[in-house]
Amino acid sequence: MPEMASLYHFTVIFSLCLLFSSLPHPTMATTRKLSALVQQPPLVLKYHNGALLKGNITVNVIWYGKFTPTQRSKIVDFLQSLNTHHAPPPSAASWWLTTANYKGGSSTLFVGNQILDENYSLGKSLTTPQIITLASKANQVLNSISVVLTSADVVVEGFCMSRCGTHGSSKDKKGNKFTYAWVGNSVSQCPGQCAWPFHQPIYGPQTPPLVPPNGDPGVDGIVINLATVLAGTVTNPFDNGYFQGPASAPLEAVTACTGIFGSGAYPGYAGSVLVDKTTGASYNAHGVNGRQYLLPAMWDPQTSTCKTLV
Ligand SMILES: *[C@@H]1O[C@H](CO)[C@@H](O)[C@H](O)[C@H]1NC(C)=O
Ligand SMILES: *[C@@H]1O[C@H](CO)[C@@H](O)[C@H](O)[C@H]1NC(C)=O
Repeated sequence: MPEMASLYHFTVIFSLCLLFSSLPHPTMATTRKLSALVQQPPLVLKYHNGALLKGNITVNVIWYGKFTPTQRSKIVDFLQSLNTHHAPPPSAASWWLTTANYKGGSSTLFVGNQILDENYSLGKSLTTPQIITLASKANQVLNSISVVLTSADVVVEGFCMSRCGTHGSSKDKKGNKFTYAWVGNSVSQCPGQCAWPFHQPIYGPQTPPLVPPNGDPGVDGIVINLATVLAGTVTNPFDNGYFQGPASAPLEAVTACTGIFGSGAYPGYAGSVLVDKTTGASYNAHGVNGRQYLLPAMWDPQTSTCKTLV
């Protein structure tokens, strides 16, 4: 398969949004029926016998555009939370551990290089090849993922139309394969798609938005989509790991469970999650530095279901 074609394969898609759009006036009864479908999906992600990422994985971060130090620390803390097992349950680290149930790939993520590109070196409208160029600026070592995060004022090919983030693999100048991921801050472009449930959804049943646990729907939306693409990267790094459906539009570890954050979720309702009594924020995972995050359900190969933390 040509390398360029595979760039488009790993998209965070809005399958539930598409589902909603076919339901002009969903009634409660319809919603309940959908609820049953969501809870017991006949869901098996096929393993295509390729390599998964395993062992210690360095996550390099390229901050493209304007991110405040506060925004950066919330996101870096999320990455560090994924390997920090002393946070109270339910922890972000226990969420990540589900990736270890995938055959042949138990991985631990460590934050590596961080590069700031505050002056938009490639402009404010990026194509996928430009995302890969940015990703390749982080000093990739063999076991690493280069993550490009774009600020709210950056337009990216496909962003908001079909995806909130993406991941894939490419080769550096020396011919070494590396994996990359990208997520954009959607807050001013399409929060109803990419920062749901912290914003009104564009389609379907309208439930009130949840209060974001880090007080910033853009950042908390990035966390959801970053969690999504990281789980997709380690379980399907080279287009031949775990996925269901066509390789050009695969359902992966988290995209197979789109829209589910807690038990009892149905389209338009994220499910029952924890609520912080002081801030009113909705979350389902504790992290480092007392932080809280809302993490999406992940398909668990041991049970063939979308697993939620709460
Ligand atoms: C992974 O990192 C941990 C902590 O730094 C270290 O103890 C362990 O030996 C490393 N494992 C491998 C396979 O490199
Ligand atoms: C970005 O541009 C500003 C204004 O032109 C400049 O002061 C600053 O040094 C630049 N930052 C980097 C990292 O190049």
